Amino acid sequence: MILKNSLHISHELVSKVVLPGDIVVDATMGNGNDTLFLANLVGAAGKVYAFDVQQLALDNTTKRLTEAGVLERAELILEGHQNIDKYVPQGVKAVMFNLGYLPKGDHNIGTRAETTIAAIEKSLELLCKEGIVMLVIYYGGDSGFDEKNAVMDYFKSLDCKKYSVLVHDFVNQINCPPIAVCIEKMS
Ligand SMILES: C[S@@+](CC[C@H](N)C(=O)[O-])C[C@H]1O[C@@H](n2cnc3c(N)ncnc32)[C@H](O)[C@@H]1O
Repeated sequence: MILKNSLHISHELVSKVVLPGDIVVDATMGNGNDTLFLANLVGAAGKVYAFDVQQLALDNTTKRLTEAGVLERAELILEGHQNIDKYVPQGVKAVMFNLGYLPKGDHNIGTRAETTIAAIEKSLELLCKEGIVMLVIYYGGDSGFDEKNAVMDYFKSLDCKKYSVLVHDFVNQINCPPIAVCIEKMS
């Protein structure tokens, strides 16, 4: 298949912009898949800041990064991503979000529109020029549609002189396949 799923697209775009030595963020750590992916991209000279509100996410990600031998490249933070500006310096190359809940975890501890939009707004401020915010939006089922609808409206409100927004959505599939959204900072 030529058309790849949203997760694949998100990794493809992030790996195009992130270089060894960069500062990057995983805004929704979960089991650490994206944290590990980012740690491998930034290399020993780079840094990954990763956020989650669940201790379980920090425990699972610590184990994952330790096994891969890259734990020292990451700072794992038990905190909501809406407070990203208290921990992360300016000049970030990429911020990744996976919206929704942890698949085998508590479905009630999912991301929420208000805090997600606050975190995206702050992430855009922290990005360097040509940096990106990359989101994979899981919705429907237990997640519902509120967050997805709110963030999609928010993307449309972004100033087109400052940001370019690409939405990757399989519009004829069933069961709400995840949507990938990439926001590039132009100035
Ligand atoms: C879809 S999962 C992320 C999956 C993750 N990328 C992985 O590789 O396993 C969403 C995660 O967001 C976390 N979360 C929910 N609200 C949050 C918030 N305000 N700040 C940071 N993380 C949050 C949840 O605890 C959950 O682990």
